[in-house]
Amino acid sequence: MARILIEGGHLLEGTVRVSGAKNAVLPILAASLLAAEGVSHIEEVPHLLDVENMANTIHALGADVEWQDSSVTINAENINSVTPPYDLVRRMRASFVVAGPLLTRFGEAVIALPGGCNIGPRPVDLHIKGLEALGATSIVENGFVRLKAPTGGLRGSRIYLDIPSVGATQNIMMAAVLAKGQTIIENAAKEPENVDLANYLNAMGARVRGAGTDIIRIDGVDVMHGATHSVIPDRIEAGTFLVAGAVMGNGVYVENTVSQHIMSLIAKLEEAGATIEDRVDGIKVWPCEGRRMRPLDVKTHYYPSYPTDMQAQMVAALCVAQGTSTVTETVFENRFMHVAELQRMGASIHIEGRTAVIDGIERLSGARVTSTDLRAGAALVIAGLIAEGETEVHGLHHLDRGYDNLVGKFQSLGARIARFEDEEEVAGAAGASAGA
Ligand code: EPZ
Repeated sequence: MARILIEGGHLLEGTVRVSGAKNAVLPILAASLLAAEGVSHIEEVPHLLDVENMANTIHALGADVEWQDSSVTINAENINSVTPPYDLVRRMRASFVVAGPLLTRFGEAVIALPGGCNIGPRPVDLHIKGLEALGATSIVENGFVRLKAPTGGLRGSRIYLDIPSVGATQNIMMAAVLAKGQTIIENAAKEPENVDLANYLNAMGARVRGAGTDIIRIDGVDVMHGATHSVIPDRIEAGTFLVAGAVMGNGVYVENTVSQHIMSLIAKLEEAGATIEDRVDGIKVWPCEGRRMRPLDVKTHYYPSYPTDMQAQMVAALCVAQGTSTVTETVFENRFMHVAELQRMGASIHIEGRTAVIDGIERLSGARVTSTDLRAGAALVIAGLIAEGETEVHGLHHLDRGYDNLVGKFQSLGARIARFEDEEEVAGAAGASAGA
């Protein structure tokens, strides 16, 4: 069983470079299906399980996909299916965003309903409602949703999203680029990843305006072609290193980061007592006094408010704050699974409704803990860096979905952290370090 071993209490120092954004590259790979002519070349593609999954999904639909280190070349001229493999969609709900490109280019899409995950039920009703507003019909049968465009293709329409859903905005935006006439998406999700997707769509020949605001206008075009695009940095990966640097750092420079994308997090870190230096290509963080944050009240919400994907990491850091903090999760129904694991490390946390109340303590103690989802895994690694003694983190398949070489990057900052794929390796390493 793969695990990460961490010897806590060692300061982090130096420079770490952030990879391309998982949550931008996934819809960008899906959007490549829209290109009826020419090839797409995507740069700054992180090596993640989820990215591989999406690449396999579009390949299974007939696209040629070639990896070159951290870039991917895609030729979608010969797509021959509108039904992505069930297992691939079940494994990663983000695959559902191939629905829009397939439906608008081929008039049909048959996709497994993704179902819920550990952090919440996560329905796709707003995706389907939006695609129906463009004229599609939908039937749910045998665990699949079958979407069909009217004769003559999708038609532009005005769509108000009940929730500024990131995924629904992406699916509707991609479907609308080949629809007849204009589409207006109101209460759209404003995340930087959606702006990055819109920039890529426009490079492919689309006419998308207003991405990043809550009103997006798309004027349909007749054909889309391949394009070259470099993916934005991963603001959540950057945030993970900044939180670690605020409590265990001695001057950590997080390179390849866009501070505008994480202003809400930066504001909270400064409120907690960290010093943030915004530089051209990155952010330097200096630790809070005594490496213990001042207590905070944090509430997650839709961009540009505090991101839910940075909730767990902040909870971990606040476990050793100088007082009582509250963290309220408003986006997902069940995103406090990391709390029970942090309590195993001695944390004093109780949940009241959708709020975690965290009484800061002097120190955490190392323990054997298990990741329950991607960001919970990152929180446990941060807790392990803070804790006294050794922490053993399991459930690494969650981490591998969204962090590109997390252990290697923390090692480069001086952390005493290592990853072992199985028993032998652990025994071998223990023998080695005992000998050292
Ligand atoms: C994206 O998920 C991200 N994933 C998530 O990151 C992130 O947490 C989330 O946006 C919110 O920021 C990717 O980009 C691949 P939503 P998405 O649709 O698009 C409800 C990570 O850690 N909703 O904006 O699935 C939904 O249940 C992941 O990297 C409906 O009710 O999120 C949720 O409560 C985890 N009906 C809320 O809206 C719908 O049709 C926001 O979901 C769609 C969503």
